[in-house]
Amino acid sequence: MNKPADPFLARLSDHDKPLPVSDPPHGNAHRGRRDRLAADLAKASSGEPLVVLSFSGREISRNRDNTFPFRFSSDFFYLTGFPEPEAWLIMEIDPDGRHRDTLVCRPRDDEREIWDGIRVGPELASARYAMDASVSIERLQETIVQALKNKSTVVTPLASEPELDADLRRWMEAARAQARGGIQAPSRLLDLGEAVARLRLIKDSHELQTMSRAAAISAQAHCQAMRATRSGLAEFAIEAVLLAEFRRRGAQSVAYGSIVASGPHSCILHHRAGDRLMRDGDMLLIDAGCELDGYASDITRSFPVSGRFTSQQRAAYEIVLAAQQAAVDATRPGVAFTAPHDAAVRVLCQGLIDLQLLPDQSLDAALETGAYKRFYMHRTGHWLGMDVHDVGDYRTPLAPGMVLTIEPGLYIRPAQDIPEGFWNVGIRIEDDAVVNQTGCELITRGVPVDPDEIETLMQEDWNGCTLD
Ligand code: GLY
Ligand code: MN
Ligand code: MN
Repeated sequence: MNKPADPFLARLSDHDKPLPVSDPPHGNAHRGRRDRLAADLAKASSGEPLVVLSFSGREISRNRDNTFPFRFSSDFFYLTGFPEPEAWLIMEIDPDGRHRDTLVCRPRDDEREIWDGIRVGPELASARYAMDASVSIERLQETIVQALKNKSTVVTPLASEPELDADLRRWMEAARAQARGGIQAPSRLLDLGEAVARLRLIKDSHELQTMSRAAAISAQAHCQAMRATRSGLAEFAIEAVLLAEFRRRGAQSVAYGSIVASGPHSCILHHRAGDRLMRDGDMLLIDAGCELDGYASDITRSFPVSGRFTSQQRAAYEIVLAAQQAAVDATRPGVAFTAPHDAAVRVLCQGLIDLQLLPDQSLDAALETGAYKRFYMHRTGHWLGMDVHDVGDYRTPLAPGMVLTIEPGLYIRPAQDIPEGFWNVGIRIEDDAVVNQTGCELITRGVPVDPDEIETLMQEDWNGCTLD
């Protein structure tokens, strides 16, 4: 068998180790993002040189020598594609936007790699991640102090972590100590988060491809959950089905804790899968999505445990589905972020009036008083990207390349003035939408929303392991 040409891959195959992320890195895509960041910052800097400092993060202790799974800082990964902890990106930016990028990372270490896995190491990192230079973390202080010299502004996350603030203070002091040698230390700080958020709001083609793959995996997991659901199973058994499907299809993690909420729990917006046994007659609301190569997906489906909607469940479901469609129709370039929400609320409100769940009143009155908030108390969506509630300014009108969720719901709790058939009917329908030139594309429809199609899918056999 031919050895792969890339020495990093050769080393992986020699050791039979998986890559830290499932794709080979896309150094040029990340380099392009750094080009855009440098150009934006240079434009705003009024002719002064800047330096960007971004940290990947550290492993966090769970107990004793056991750590939580490492998840890189989203901004750092967005700019580098480098997946290891204890790494820094340093960008030295000229007033004309030219930049020199250095990756600081852990050195190769045979002893540590036996225990914790392969490190890329500075020798390979430059070429692999399209950097101008790469040095060992052992030289962090001297490398950063050198980069601070004669720069006017440091661009770094502001007030994010006490340790990082303390590091920066130490480095600034070291840079200032050289002032007598004619070297100028930076005198201004700028928030990196805000500058990167502006870029992250519009996804590039590499990001959109990854997000579509993440969405497809999560949709398959929801289909499996629908097949597996039946009376007598615990919520956590369905969570296990979702997790198995995420991992089986290559996702590294969940994008957020899976919500598997049956019966009364379906009216608790963020109920985490627990030990309640599901029963015929219950609704089951699942809000779950995987993270793939650093990108989130976020899907909610709501369906009857028995596999057949009752007439009240179906009536409420159809209102939420119509509200979602109205929100989808309102999602297009140029409109305010609130347009889909406003469209959904009108349909939900009219539906609640038609079902007589809101006391006799006009649509305008119900909208005006906010009476519907008893049954619908959250917003209809949020930005989606590397973080499930992604960064980005919500005052920006929608534009092609933005990704948002569309997730109206109705949550009907038991009450004297509510007919019993509606009690504990909690419904949310959530899809992920990519804004395009004329409207939006839903990338999560690999799992159905039509109630008849859901009932049909639930008749199919679940062919996984025994769940009870
Ligand atoms: N899964 C959290 C949300 O839908 O916003
Ligand atoms: Mn969401
Ligand atoms: Mn969700």
